[in-house]
Amino acid sequence: MSEETETIIKLENLTKRFGYGDAASYALKDFDLTVKRGEFIMIMGPSGCGKTTLLNLIGLLDSATSGVYRLNDEPVSRISARRQARLRAKKIGFIFQNFNLIPDLPIIENVALPLVYSGYHKTRRLIRASEILDRFNLKEKEYYFPSQLSGGQQQRAAIARAIVARPEIILADEPTGNLDSHSSALVMSELSRIHSEGNTIIMVTHNPSLTSYATRVIHMLDGSIDTDIKTVADSDLPVPVEKKNRRRPKNKKKSNRKKKTKK
Ligand SMILES: Nc1ncnc2c1ncn2[C@@H]1O[C@H](COP(=O)(O)OP(=O)(O)OP(=O)(O)O)[C@@H](O)[C@H]1O
Ligand SMILES: [Mg+2]
Repeated sequence: MSEETETIIKLENLTKRFGYGDAASYALKDFDLTVKRGEFIMIMGPSGCGKTTLLNLIGLLDSATSGVYRLNDEPVSRISARRQARLRAKKIGFIFQNFNLIPDLPIIENVALPLVYSGYHKTRRLIRASEILDRFNLKEKEYYFPSQLSGGQQQRAAIARAIVARPEIILADEPTGNLDSHSSALVMSELSRIHSEGNTIIMVTHNPSLTSYATRVIHMLDGSIDTDIKTVADSDLPVPVEKKNRRRPKNKKKSNRKKKTKK
């Protein structure tokens, strides 16, 4: 298998049950899904069909009742809670519909939160948060509190927070659901840019016009996949930037250098 089509997420017979006995209901039923690195998947489907449940399981915020979830080939059930928390912080960025910014913290500290696991000192974390807020045209608002920003600005801050630790997987639950069309377009262009750098995005949306950004569109019904359509071949998915750089001229230079030292 080439690097470009590496499997990053594999769900096999995943089931999520809430409640027991007569009160039991199934949010996901025998759910199978294989996600390749660089896919931009849009998940659609009626309210209550299990979209948020699916994102919560993939994002290690919840665990399945039965079935197997492999993240980078490793069954997550075998990963300790502590390591799951680290994996979540390092590999996965969340964007929630209601932003989920912490109201008592200024924007810059909200954005710096996922860097707690990075090993950086606090000053360094704030510098990095500030840099990323600059990219989102929010630098002059960095010491504002969430309530002092517009919905679009809060969502941009939430995206900044989701990507600050450079996660490989972005999970977005209706990230444009509360936004006007202008803010929605800004958010989509930012997600598109993140995707073009080779990251994997799984996004829930109710808006069919956004599916043009996706490489794959999955419609869910009652906890299962109803339709699953890929619009981009696996071989044409974007490759992570650092991998591209690693592959190109470095090798050539190395071999040139070797030749020189031999002479
Ligand atoms: N914590 C919970 N306890 C009990 N049932 C739950 C819980 N979370 C979700 N459910 C149920 O699981 C089903 C799927 O919920 P989920 O939130 O995944 O739907 P959804 O597709 O995201 O819907 P929406 O489009 O409205 O956000 C629903 O029937 C819901 O009531
Ligand atoms: Mg939902």
